[in-house]
Amino acid sequence: MSDVPGFGKALVIITGASRGFGRALALEVAARVDATGSVLILAARSDDKLHELQTHVTRVASELTVRCVTADLSRKEDVERVITVIRETQCADIDHLLLFNNAASLGDVSRYCRDFTDVDEVDSYLSFNVSSALCLTTGVLRAVPRRVGLTRVIINISSLCAIKPFASWVLYCTGKAAREMMFRVLAEEEPDLRVLSYAPGPLDTDMQLQARSSSADGCVRSACSGLHAQGQLLTCEASVSKLMKVLLEGNFTSGAHLDFYD
Ligand SMILES: NC(=O)c1ccc[n+]([C@@H]2O[C@H](COP(=O)([O-])OP(=O)(O)OC[C@H]3O[C@@H](n4cnc5c(N)ncnc54)[C@H](OP(=O)(O)O)[C@@H]3O)[C@@H](O)[C@H]2O)c1
Repeated sequence: MSDVPGFGKALVIITGASRGFGRALALEVAARVDATGSVLILAARSDDKLHELQTHVTRVASELTVRCVTADLSRKEDVERVITVIRETQCADIDHLLLFNNAASLGDVSRYCRDFTDVDEVDSYLSFNVSSALCLTTGVLRAVPRRVGLTRVIINISSLCAIKPFASWVLYCTGKAAREMMFRVLAEEEPDLRVLSYAPGPLDTDMQLQARSSSADGCVRSACSGLHAQGQLLTCEASVSKLMKVLLEGNFTSGAHLDFYD
């Protein structure tokens, strides 16, 4: 029997699991649940990458049930499809429900606030980054209602941008701030839930690449380039490891914002 502390029998849902932080999260979580009886649900748009990850996970934890849901979470019907898969998942005697709202996009960072004039464009960004996270969360909570012996944990992958403005990142900062408040309200309303907004720190992922190559603001762009050039970006594994420790210890106030550097 493994002496690695874990979540026991769990239903784990990770959005944006195809690459970056979500992928690293899936690999770490898979090692932290009881393989027999646990279910890992991976959602993203890239079907091939999800299935490659599924193969990788099941090579390490062969008993674990891993389901891939190819879904564009900016589309209402795809959000509903993920919820349907969860509703149909047999997980009557689990100890933990863990929902990682990880999927997000940086949006167009090549322009400033003054350049956003198209309501549909802004709505579309917020629909994926804010609305879908709320509706997926409520759908999951309805599909897996509270009961004695079940700990339900909702994790919002947040950012420093939820609390600090960055020039030319109006969509991203607005989305992260809104999302974080949304989860604070959820924590306020549902005291039986454990809700955490985790800012993972600057990660060496595709999103960072976009940030340092496309940001309109020169200071922001050179700050991102500097982190990369000086080897100061975090690996996803290092940040996931901190998140796992926090979740397993459980010493956070529900609704709190926690940064990798805290
Ligand atoms: N990178 C950083 O420095 C940093 C810093 C602070 C916070 N964060 C946060 O950390 C989280 C992960 O970021 P990351 O750096 O790993 O980002 P990433 O490399 O860009 O990966 C984003 C993930 O989200 C998925 N995704 C994007 N659009 C989607 C859509 N419409 N529907 C479903 N899935 C979608 C992508 O998969 P598909 O393309 O296959 O759909 C991918 O798996 C995000 O919430 C981000 O805001 C990142």
